[in-house]
Amino acid sequence: MKEKKILVFGSSNSKQSINRQLAIFASTLLQHSGSSIIDMNDFEMPIYGIDREKEEGIPQLAYDFREMVETHDGMIISMAEHNGAYTTIFKNIFDWISRIPGSTWGDKPMLLLGTSPGGRGASSVLEIASKRLPFNGGFVKDTFSLPLFNENFDRESQRVTNEDKLVELTEKVQIFERGLEG
Ligand SMILES: Cc1cc2nc3c(=O)[nH]c(=O)nc-3n(C[C@H](O)[C@H](O)[C@H](O)COP(=O)(O)O)c2cc1C
Repeated sequence: MKEKKILVFGSSNSKQSINRQLAIFASTLLQHSGSSIIDMNDFEMPIYGIDREKEEGIPQLAYDFREMVETHDGMIISMAEHNGAYTTIFKNIFDWISRIPGSTWGDKPMLLLGTSPGGRGASSVLEIASKRLPFNGGFVKDTFSLPLFNENFDRESQRVTNEDKLVELTEKVQIFERGLEG
């Protein structure tokens, strides 16, 4: 059977993004699939606006991002939370790719993660994304929140250190991966 390929990213343009670190760690828990890690900074585009779209069209980077989605079998995304919602860079990419005809998120399965330094672990944006993305062809299979990143993740070894959370994440990644076979 062909090896599955998972697209992995944190929804952040921070160079030190804790969500990027969590997404990469989650990808190391995949047992049989390959992964491609991408950086949102490589898909920075002008802020979406209807007038800009009419005048300048959809940026090539939006097509490039969509192609990344289409050439993978699923996604592991870790959602950074800004003011209880999506980061600007994620929403901007989302808005641009939603203007390309077809399924915005390619009708692909997603495992949505989220972390923050605080106790809620990006749970607001996880709720928003898990409710909305399915309407745009992003089939959210499960969510995982890691609160208190600095206590529960070791930056040196780049691992989740909280035992319960590690078990939960490992199970969720493995169930997600098994689901790709179906
Ligand atoms: C503009 C701004 C708004 C933020 N709003 C929230 C928030 O609503 N909830 C939260 O848990 N953390 C919030 N934070 C803290 C982020 O969780 C923290 O910066 C985290 O590192 C973001 O993830 P990243 O490192 O992957 O970018 C905010 C940070 C910034 C800069």
